[in-house]
Amino acid sequence: MKKIAPSILSADLANLASEVKEVAEGGADWIHVDVMDGHFVPNITIGVPVVECLKEVSPLPLDVHLMIERPEEFIEPFARGGADVLTVHVEVCHHLHRVIAHIKAKGIKAGVAINPATPLGSLEEILDEVDLVLVMSVNPGFGGQEFIPGSLQKIRRLKDWLKQRGLEAVEIEVDGGIKIENAAEVAKAGADILVSGSGIFGLKDRKEALRRMREAIL
Ligand code: DX5
Ligand code: ZN
Repeated sequence: MKKIAPSILSADLANLASEVKEVAEGGADWIHVDVMDGHFVPNITIGVPVVECLKEVSPLPLDVHLMIERPEEFIEPFARGGADVLTVHVEVCHHLHRVIAHIKAKGIKAGVAINPATPLGSLEEILDEVDLVLVMSVNPGFGGQEFIPGSLQKIRRLKDWLKQRGLEAVEIEVDGGIKIENAAEVAKAGADILVSGSGIFGLKDRKEALRRMREAIL
């Protein structure tokens, strides 16, 4: 079954425990945690201490998306802090193979993320090694941006490619601009995991938002 991962970037950060509880009760699958460093992306968000606190209260796996330079220096602390999935960007890894191996050695899922303007070809030699590919459907850095329509074609091409290579177990996660209205289209293109920040936390009734998004992708 396809997964929905609400991004806490759009949650009330002063009440994270109750925000997480609400989406967990509403049927979310993972909690998506956006880590930004003000260098790789033009914004700063949260780090290891918040992941540690989330781990205490979240009944759901923590899906940690590192939008940071030199991610290799932070695999250890985020894994120890409680990440269940750790995703790094292909654009910042000089030694991606080593970073992915490091994440997997921690006994957690390893993902590689790719920006809208980065060609899928840059993943060719790493696809066999990862648990998931995170396709960015906005330029990373902020919640609440518009879904880039060309992402659908990219998701379809990736899906076909994985199939051709017998790598159907590699999940496709899509992140950015996903709302109730376009969730079906994104799922149909081949997304296995839908990240949604403002599309869920931006609505007053998060459980209702999740129910409607789930219904849309069924
Ligand atoms: C963007 C982040 C996303 C963001 C998505 O840089 O990686 O996870 O929270 O937010 P929405 O769903 O509002 O586009
Ligand atoms: Zn994200």
